[in-house]
Amino acid sequence: MGDKKKKTAEPDLMQKIVGLCKRRGFVFQSSEIYGGLKSAYDYGPLGVELKRNVMAEWWRSMVHEREDVVGLDASIIMSPKVWQASGHVGGFSDPLVDCKVCKCRFRADKAPQVEVGTEVTFRAGGKTQTGIAERGYVCPECGSPELSEEREFNLLFKTNLGPVDTGDSTVYLRPETAQAMFVNFLNVQSTYRLRPPFGIAQQGKSFRNEITVEHFIFRSCEFEQMEMEYFCPPEEAPKWLDYWKQERFDWYVNLGCKKENLRLRAHEEDELAHYADGCYDVEYKYPWGWDELEGIANRTNYDLKKHQEASGKKLTYFDPVRENPETGKMGVHYLPYVIEPAAGATRTVLMFLLDAYDEEPPSEGRKEGRVVLRLHPRLAPIKVAVLPLVKKDEWLTGKAREIVKAFLKNGVNAFYDEKDAIGRRYARQDEAGTPFCITVDGQTKEDGTVTIRYRDDMRQDRIKLEEAVDIVNKKMRE
Ligand code: GAP
Repeated sequence: MGDKKKKTAEPDLMQKIVGLCKRRGFVFQSSEIYGGLKSAYDYGPLGVELKRNVMAEWWRSMVHEREDVVGLDASIIMSPKVWQASGHVGGFSDPLVDCKVCKCRFRADKAPQVEVGTEVTFRAGGKTQTGIAERGYVCPECGSPELSEEREFNLLFKTNLGPVDTGDSTVYLRPETAQAMFVNFLNVQSTYRLRPPFGIAQQGKSFRNEITVEHFIFRSCEFEQMEMEYFCPPEEAPKWLDYWKQERFDWYVNLGCKKENLRLRAHEEDELAHYADGCYDVEYKYPWGWDELEGIANRTNYDLKKHQEASGKKLTYFDPVRENPETGKMGVHYLPYVIEPAAGATRTVLMFLLDAYDEEPPSEGRKEGRVVLRLHPRLAPIKVAVLPLVKKDEWLTGKAREIVKAFLKNGVNAFYDEKDAIGRRYARQDEAGTPFCITVDGQTKEDGTVTIRYRDDMRQDRIKLEEAVDIVNKKMRE
């Protein structure tokens, strides 16, 4: 389900998000003290909570809230025969091209498109030059049409199993989580006594040696996926494709993503993967334009068929209450069709950060503007910050710590902060996406009430201390 887009300069918002991620500890460049490793990222204290929340919400809606989907957690390293049968060893490649002028290496199918035979202008050696486009694209860096031949570059990461590389010990890091669901189809079906339609869901790391890594965590070589394979009778596949594309679209909206920034796009015939009979992308309006967030495909029985042929093991399901078209009797063996919603967890993290980011200018009564991450409370890394108004008052700090403990005990991620003036502490929490702040002050001593401040409209209410956990929990369920 390749991503179709044109490369543009990274707009402002992306730079702001990258800056915020580093400043507040959402995402760091990997191995930074050694100069960083390109396209590898580490999720800091806030980032890991956000990513876990995204993945937990997916698991909740795809597995825990349904009777027809079960989970799987398979090994990242699988038999190399899996990847031969699936077509990844032979065909999981991108067209790689070198620019003869600026030496940049890029993917031909992602390069800026031009009409063959037109004159194009580009920069070389500090001068503007012209050339004729002989292909349908030019170099994404300098715009030159002087390019090497296209070579196919396989995206699989290779390593070897065992202490010695004997040549036949080659194994691959999985490029998608999906194949483990196909090769475990009968294991899961028979042990759980499942009857199609049913799904197997999995989350976890995938690896692709991408030629072009871009837009921060949008496309990286190591990333996390959230995939589900929904096995159904062949004639029901169109109905389930329709169903899942809508379910998945609604999932993002229910978690607060702005509807106007999301769309479902049906794949054109020439875009479809060779195994797919119908595919939709959930697309998001990123700062560089509409681009893929998730793909929902009808993979037919392609994968089960391939693994059945290559392994020599029968992967058909026996349905005792389905008529056999050949004998007219009840009972038939068949290979189910598969509908696959395939999302990227790390890409979804980026999407929610972009969508939630907001800047408010100074207003009447507020000298300074603010940056606020309007994350859904269920996604927010910290749910509630507890702030003693005065640091030096031991009663206030002790009470605030007590409240933090009460939240933590109830499974609500709470954070204690006593540093700086209260306004600055609120500002820090707004930027971290914390939906609620609770302030403990002199009045708390007298009547046991605290102030609750709401991130989005900065409203402040006086509530009884005992109500705090309930109020926060209720908001989390909305
Ligand atoms: N099993 C089908 C499959 O893997 P895909 O469109 O190649 O389909 C599914 O990947 C999702 O995984 C994408 O929509 C995207 O969100 C995410 N993804 C794919 N490659 C990625 C990369 N290099 N970096 C980050 N996310 C990626």
